[in-house]
Amino acid sequence: MNILVTGASGQLGSEIHYLEKNPKNNYFFTTKTDLDITDRKSVQKYIVDNKIKIIINCAAYTAVEKAEEEFKKADLVNHVAVKNLAEASKKNDVFLIHFSTDYVFGGAGNLPFRENDIVNPLSVYGKTKLAGEQVIKETGCKALIIRTAWLYSSFGNNFVKTIIKLSSKKESIKVVYDQVGSPTSARDLAKFLIFIIETGKYIGKEGIYHFTNEGVVSWYDFAVEIANQIGAKCKILPCRTDEFSTKAKRPAYSVLDKVKVKEIFDIEIPYWKDSLKKCLEELIL
Ligand SMILES: NC(=O)c1ccc[n+]([C@@H]2O[C@H](COP(=O)([O-])OP(=O)(O)OC[C@H]3O[C@@H](n4cnc5c(N)ncnc54)[C@H](OP(=O)(O)O)[C@@H]3O)[C@@H](O)[C@H]2O)c1
Repeated sequence: MNILVTGASGQLGSEIHYLEKNPKNNYFFTTKTDLDITDRKSVQKYIVDNKIKIIINCAAYTAVEKAEEEFKKADLVNHVAVKNLAEASKKNDVFLIHFSTDYVFGGAGNLPFRENDIVNPLSVYGKTKLAGEQVIKETGCKALIIRTAWLYSSFGNNFVKTIIKLSSKKESIKVVYDQVGSPTSARDLAKFLIFIIETGKYIGKEGIYHFTNEGVVSWYDFAVEIANQIGAKCKILPCRTDEFSTKAKRPAYSVLDKVKVKEIFDIEIPYWKDSLKKCLEELIL
């Protein structure tokens, strides 16, 4: 089966590339240079020419702060280009696997968000990602939309790498303790994807799912754990969000409820500290 992976040089795309070993399936890993998903005609042609049966869309505009000043650019990749993929999928009977974010929620409350809970994105990034979800539904193609959160990997740039870098240079770092969520190892998410594809478990399971690692933490707790696990001497100090001036508003609480994904696909999801340890071992050793 021919499977297209878009945005293959990002964190998630790189993890799928790293893990994918089954010779029965033929993965087409494409970067923005190989296939720009904002180009509708190229998307349609690529799918037809290569007899693609599944698209895993790892391409996205993920710069949350920058998006506040670049609505058009963010919307083009997170919404308009997703329409290209969804329409081409519908037309050619392709199954689309797409990713969205905890930032579609507004962050009120203290109970994990379920898939059907009311959305209320606070940032341009969150709004454009939500528009991407909606356009998939409107198109009516066969699709899984997987909302994830706080992704990190040994590939690409992310919070884990930032803390490693800063903690080696600074005596102390301030990190917010009033934004709570769940970190996600992109390796674990990639393993889940490959599992549902290789077993055919995705078939007939269209809809929205939430996938993060197990556990609930603030960014402060996350940073403390990173510093502890690497033995950094740097002090991690808790601070409030309003101590930093940021353009993008972020949800105070964005924990995703994972009951649905665990029940439907009969999976266990690793605890965040265990997955962090594995990633740090790769990064530090
Ligand atoms: N990172 C997080 O914390 C987080 C949290 C929640 C949800 N998510 C979602 O999870 C998914 C994977 O995220 P990630 O962290 O792996 O993202 P990432 O590392 O930012 O990778 C995104 C990739 O998409 C590529 N891309 C951008 N525009 C493109 C275009 N027009 N055509 C083709 N490729 C394009 C980028 O290439 P360039 O770098 O060359 O632009 C980059 O390689 C995304 O849907 C994201 O919204 C991420």
